[in-house]
Amino acid sequence: MSTYDAFADFRMADHVAIVTGGAQNIGAGIATALAGAGARVVIADLNGEKAKATAEVIEQRTGSPAIGIGCDVTSDADIQACIDATVGTFGGISTLVNNVGWGEANADPFAVTEEQMVASYRLNTVSALRMTSAAVPYLRQAENASVTNSGSMVSFLPRSTSSPTARRRPP
Ligand SMILES: NC(=O)c1ccc[n+]([C@@H]2O[C@H](COP(=O)([O-])OP(=O)(O)OC[C@H]3O[C@@H](n4cnc5c(N)ncnc54)[C@H](O)[C@@H]3O)[C@@H](O)[C@H]2O)c1
Repeated sequence: MSTYDAFADFRMADHVAIVTGGAQNIGAGIATALAGAGARVVIADLNGEKAKATAEVIEQRTGSPAIGIGCDVTSDADIQACIDATVGTFGGISTLVNNVGWGEANADPFAVTEEQMVASYRLNTVSALRMTSAAVPYLRQAENASVTNSGSMVSFLPRSTSSPTARRRPP
């Protein structure tokens, strides 16, 4: 029986990808897949040490260059530093994955404060707009540029216990 490798035609050579929140779990998986397909990868994560360690593992596993950068995606200064470091290291940006997102269950949704809701919106939604805006000058120069925004089913199937909160998951 013949087998078909669905990833055989998935090539990302010549691409430079930034993956936010890529130090662990889903983001690290995305970064590994992109690097495995030949992309040079930047992991931008609040936990800079873990981002660097994950980038090292990815580089060893895939053979594609990867770097990790400490970056808080709610900080404009950190975002710009990440963009500058990416362009300085790899010469451009063609792929952006806004993977960062976080929420937590609340026993009492009415106890969630306005500040918590606003901070959650900044982390989960505004950060993707800010990252994309900062990357756009380079994405426009790239061939086959793409932006991917991660979300959750909770956004369209809300439960009373999953209302937004501000607390950042500890790195
Ligand atoms: N895990 C799931 O079951 C699941 C389900 C649906 C959707 N998602 C979505 O997938 C994405 C990733 O989920 P996950 O479970 O891998 O997340 P995770 O919490 O395991 O990892 C998130 C990463 O983001 C980093 N991070 C947190 N705040 C940051 C900030 N301000 N700036 C930069 N980095 C920051 C953390 O250090 C961590 O490395 C999220 O958008 C999440 O909503 C996850």
